[in-house]
Amino acid sequence: MRVYNFSAGPSMLPLEVLQQAQADFVDYEGSGMSVTEMSHRSKWYDAIHKECLALLRELMNVPDNYKILLVQGGASQQFDAIPLNLLTGSGKADYVVTGNFAKKAYKAALQYGDIHLAASSEDKAYSYIPKDLDLRDGVDYLYITQNNTIFGTRYAKLPTPKSGVLVADVSSNILSEVMDVSKYGVMYAGAQKNVAPAGVTIVIVREDLIGDGMKGCPTMLKWKTQADADSLYNTPPCFSIYMAMLNLRHLKKLGGVTEMQKINEYKAGLLYDFIDNSKLFKNYVNREDRSFMNVPFVTGDKDLDAQFVKEAEANGLVSIKGHKLVGGMRASVYNAMPVEGVKKLIEFMKKFETEHTA
Ligand SMILES: Cc1ncc(COP(=O)(O)O)c(C=O)c1O
Repeated sequence: MRVYNFSAGPSMLPLEVLQQAQADFVDYEGSGMSVTEMSHRSKWYDAIHKECLALLRELMNVPDNYKILLVQGGASQQFDAIPLNLLTGSGKADYVVTGNFAKKAYKAALQYGDIHLAASSEDKAYSYIPKDLDLRDGVDYLYITQNNTIFGTRYAKLPTPKSGVLVADVSSNILSEVMDVSKYGVMYAGAQKNVAPAGVTIVIVREDLIGDGMKGCPTMLKWKTQADADSLYNTPPCFSIYMAMLNLRHLKKLGGVTEMQKINEYKAGLLYDFIDNSKLFKNYVNREDRSFMNVPFVTGDKDLDAQFVKEAEANGLVSIKGHKLVGGMRASVYNAMPVEGVKKLIEFMKKFETEHTA
């Protein structure tokens, strides 16, 4: 039996995509091999790689003067790759810390240059997106995490850098909403939430920002290495890229990112509406900064939260426990979570609420 999986990542993939992968698994398109076994220089893999890149460009409307790179090392590797590639002008960058991953990125960058904290929402447990940024002149870039997976916040409006380019971690909202790529110098995302199984990381970077990077930048962290080789400098994470291609085909069939965004807004809207009117459940995020992808909520009683998580699981609503930094619950409702899954969760929450309120 398939469950509704509310995991923050790795997370659900569309059933149709999994079934296609299953059908292809042992003998991919008459090759007599699985994608997991074939050479990354084979004609079959080459077609997968090119289609994945082409679909990403089409679905995200990526302008011609941007390169799309498929790299390894997870989103976390970009915490170092970004300063190593971009701190080549003034060597200065501004960071906005809106959660755990932004903080990790900020700390990594401190090793490489003159890094300034432009704002942080740590004072209120990362429950909002700071609007007043202390931005400097002459920086190479301004860094943000656009959707904060753990705390359930999202930039409804992108900040405008005072100088330099905008760099964004879009790991947990890529392909979930329409993004104007031309507003960013660089955006990047690990695949394991909205794209594919873990393995590939997508880096979309404006061509003029691709160079040799800082002195000593390791070959494999240098974007130029993969940019010059169409992301085939070395063995890519072939299976993850293949799954991404299938998922992108599926998204295109659904009507692309514009349609997906409507569905995501509807799903998140159902959940927030219920929580806002609930006598038991609360979401502590500043309303205008709420994420459409990750919805944290609590009952206010730790034991009751634990009971909720346990009973939800017994009802086929799994991985709904909040991150250890926040506690409570978190429903991650990425692209692949069907509307029925969200409705089933709400029904379960209603029942639980009735049982536990006077
Ligand atoms: C917003 C964000 N950035 C970065 C990461 C780290 O990704 P990875 O595990 O691929 O390094 C995550 C993982 O959950 C994330 O949600």
